[in-house]
Amino acid sequence: MTKQSRVLVTGAAGFIGSHTCDSLLAAGHAVCGVDNFRTGRLENLWSCSAHPEFVLREGDVAEAGELDEIVAQFAPSAIIHLAGLVSVQESIATPALNFRLNVQATHAIAEAARKRSVGRVVFASSAAVYGESSRQALNEAAAPCMPVSPYGAAKLASENLLLGYARAYGFTAICLRYFNVFGPRQDPGSQYSGVITAFSRCFMEGRSATIFGDGNQSRDFISVRDIARANLLGATLPSLPSSTLNVCSGRGTSLLELVGCLSAHFGGSAKAEHAPERPGDIRHSLGDPSAAKRILGFQTAWTVDDGLGELAQPAETLISPL
Ligand code: UD1
Repeated sequence: MTKQSRVLVTGAAGFIGSHTCDSLLAAGHAVCGVDNFRTGRLENLWSCSAHPEFVLREGDVAEAGELDEIVAQFAPSAIIHLAGLVSVQESIATPALNFRLNVQATHAIAEAARKRSVGRVVFASSAAVYGESSRQALNEAAAPCMPVSPYGAAKLASENLLLGYARAYGFTAICLRYFNVFGPRQDPGSQYSGVITAFSRCFMEGRSATIFGDGNQSRDFISVRDIARANLLGATLPSLPSSTLNVCSGRGTSLLELVGCLSAHFGGSAKAEHAPERPGDIRHSLGDPSAAKRILGFQTAWTVDDGLGELAQPAETLISPL
């Protein structure tokens, strides 16, 4: 049986955060969730809130003082840092907010880990650090990192900040480069939600989806449940080296294929129209999952089709009862 860890999760009430808290609690760990509720929602934590090993603290991670106090009180063995601005498009619209939430907050985390001797920090990085790429699978060691958005640049800066701190102060930094995450609890009402959530909502409401560009752009989609498991492994597996790892399936899906799959799940009723490409978008994004398999023993368990089937069902998930 694994030893119980004490894990602090920032952005706990968000899409990825709430699934990560569920996975940690189910595996027997103690969890302190932190959220400022800028985009996080309390209802996402309905399954955690009654758990005896879960505490929730409202706080702004970018405020070093607030974070330091929470870390000092909870004394975590690991921090999973998920709080941040999640949309490439929003980072282009509000670059200063992107810097505060995606760089300054990471610095506060690194400082808290240093001062309070936290052994490990798992960081929500992104495939956006790579920038433009071809249809070839991106490998962490071989592919150059040339971000094309403030979001990708901030994620890369944060990775380097954490890895440098980890070397200097002797903790472990695990930077997980998530590819395109989808699944229950992604905010369907936000203009910045991911493409699968946006399309599902349109089809559920009988509206046409908007494809920006020709629809041949492709992404490596990964279920949030797989992401939560990668976070759990990153935070709790013993003796990991500091690492930067893709978290992806290794399979690409174009937007046109996505519309076809969703159409099948929504009873053949899906329609889509085209609009101009969005600035800052990359054309293709496909990850090589082999390093995460080697270091974390991680492989995706959910296919895109399984995940889309789940989204097409009316479930707890889009809005859960408290
Ligand atoms: C996504 C994530 C980002 C993550 C990155 C990793 C979101 C909101 N963003 O960015 O957090 O770090 O992957 O690679 O989940 N599109 C449409 N119609 C729509 C919405 C989007 O055609 O209604 C297109 C976009 O133009 C783009 C593609 O779908 O070509 C994917 O867009 P999006 O889901 O916003 O994700 P990324 O920008 O790839």
